[in-house]
Amino acid sequence: MAETHDPVKLMKQAVGQAAAAQVKSNSVVGLGTGSTTAYALQALGERLKSGELTDIVGIPTSFQAQVLARDYGIPLTGLDAVDRIDVAIDGADEVDPQKNLIKGGGAAHTQEKIVDSLAERFIVVVDSGKLVDKLGSTFLLPVEVVPMALHPVLRAITKLGGKPELRMGVRKAGPVVTDQGNLVIDVKFDAIDNPAELEKTLNNIPGVLENGLFVGVADQVLVGEIVDGQPKVREF
Ligand code: A5P
Repeated sequence: MAETHDPVKLMKQAVGQAAAAQVKSNSVVGLGTGSTTAYALQALGERLKSGELTDIVGIPTSFQAQVLARDYGIPLTGLDAVDRIDVAIDGADEVDPQKNLIKGGGAAHTQEKIVDSLAERFIVVVDSGKLVDKLGSTFLLPVEVVPMALHPVLRAITKLGGKPELRMGVRKAGPVVTDQGNLVIDVKFDAIDNPAELEKTLNNIPGVLENGLFVGVADQVLVGEIVDGQPKVREF
């Protein structure tokens, strides 16, 4: 990736590199999705290339992660071929003080939740702008929906007090289609007071595949920030 002076990119780069530095040789690594994790994958590739890190295999959480892993020379495998994931590295859109997350800004939260939940240790990588007191304050909650159930799910979510909108493509006519061939609804809730309950309630609506609430999944949150003009990483 090209050199950058953008402070947000510098925070993402620093935190991505810090997470990649924690990966040990001979391990199975969950490879998250998004612009922050992309820096971690780049750093993993560099560690492999230099010989400092050996014998890792990655489990990708999206088509994007697969492509980046190939570009950076990270060998890939699938969940049928391994009996454990040692560590997963993934970004988030919001992190609350209990380390609960909203994910799915890249529409990849279904595969991310599978891989991140299976990992012995799930390291979240975020810049300081992602920290919130309460989930849902700055980011809409993504919900992946089977296309034929779109309208009943929109109605069910409205009944729950949410304001749903279908996510539309950018430079593509029509809606965003996930790696699984489904649609994404982004939902505004006035307040998410009980993320664990809302996660279950949403997933109980027929036609909902998965929502972006990750409750009790994160083990460690690394936060990139700018201190005295320099990118730094702290543990949350
Ligand atoms: C992908 O669906 C998301 O869950 C991402 O992990 C999340 O949106 C964070 O992305 P950035 O690192 O690009 O902000």
